[in-house]
Amino acid sequence: MERVLITGITGQDGAYLAKFLLEKGYEVYGTYRRLSTPNFWRLQYLEIFDSVNLIPADLVDTTSIVEAIKISEPDEVYHLAAQSFVGASFEQPVGTGEITGLGVTRVLEAIRQINPNIRFYQASTSELYGRGNLTSLSEDTPFQPSSPYAAAKLYGYWLTRIYREGYKIFACNGILFNHESPLRGLEFVTRKISNAVAKIALGIERELRLGNLDAKRDWGYAPEYVESMWLMLQQKEPDDYVIATNETHSVKEFAEKAFDVVGLDWQENVKVDKRFFRPLDVNFLQGDYSKAKQKLGWRPKVKFDKLVKIMVKEDLDRWEKWQSGERFPWDAPNYPTETKIVTRALRV
Ligand code: NAP
Ligand code: GDD
Repeated sequence: MERVLITGITGQDGAYLAKFLLEKGYEVYGTYRRLSTPNFWRLQYLEIFDSVNLIPADLVDTTSIVEAIKISEPDEVYHLAAQSFVGASFEQPVGTGEITGLGVTRVLEAIRQINPNIRFYQASTSELYGRGNLTSLSEDTPFQPSSPYAAAKLYGYWLTRIYREGYKIFACNGILFNHESPLRGLEFVTRKISNAVAKIALGIERELRLGNLDAKRDWGYAPEYVESMWLMLQQKEPDDYVIATNETHSVKEFAEKAFDVVGLDWQENVKVDKRFFRPLDVNFLQGDYSKAKQKLGWRPKVKFDKLVKIMVKEDLDRWEKWQSGERFPWDAPNYPTETKIVTRALRV
């Protein structure tokens, strides 16, 4: 049986990828952080918590990364763990560099020293392209990172290529455009919207406060995107691939469609709030997944309208169950309304 190590198995992609690889027959190991409150809700929600092996590790602690690779003896490592929220990277630029940037080197170096035959997937991102683009973006488009997060990811992107070319490690960059799902973290705009729409529809909340409504993203469906990660590591040669839907939509469109699902008018429920604007923002992202389609045979099936419906309906369903007294693993009841959080943006 093939063995796999997923860093960040408690995150959105980690949970979906673990489920996908279990179904493929892999023995799945995953790293998690020791936290004062355990955070396994996604694995429980997908009903795979008892099927995966968990190893405590933190990306700032090289020893724990080395241990994780020694314990799991993987054939493949999917490096998904990161400080993944762009907004937080402006508030914690040093930590983001340590975790999201240097963390990649720690994993690659452990692989090089322990077993250079391990295949390695790096969670690269469309944030690498940064600001100023207005056309679709491919593997050949130059990068111009516009946040501490994107700069850290650019470093990880290059380390992956350097270890591939310098040490012949089978290392791939998946340049994934935004991908969402009902397991998305509540700080990201799509889930913030779907969760708020459900609460407003049920009378639990009164309004939704958002930042830059004009930002456009190429939003796909996370369970489909994790399959592309696996496909990259099954090829003859390591390479880098864009994964996207080739469509782009604004935050405003997402909000409009989401309120449509529950028969409400978005304009009556959304307020623009300065505190949710970033010091720099990427206004346009649209991918071109031609290479992945041709070489991996990958293509997206769930597009924008369907994605919005899936997310709103699942959040609505959860809040309805919650109101009727049902209890289940879930993040939203413990998440504060974001206006309670004091950030630098609020003070300027
Ligand atoms: P996510 O839900 O935020 O999950 C991030 C994971 O990293 C969590 O398991 C988290 O653990 C872990 N982590 C954070 N800091 C860590 C540290 N210091 N040591 C060890 N683990 C740590 O992110 P995601 O959406 O699944 O994304 C997965 C990866 O793909 C990330 O690298 C992200 O940057 C990248 N990416 C995401 C997208 C997207 O649209 N989703 C697009 C392109 C690239 P806790 O559960 O303990 O917090
Ligand atoms: N989070 C958030 N909250 N974003 C908002 C809000 C708000 O209230 N209002 C407007 N936005 C805008 C942001 O300014 C940004 O332009 C856009 O919505 C999307 O923000 P996020 O959902 O936070 O995602 P992201 O695009 O910054 O980053 C995600 O996708 C990247 C791939 O392009 C993350 O998953 C990254 O880890 C990933 O690399």
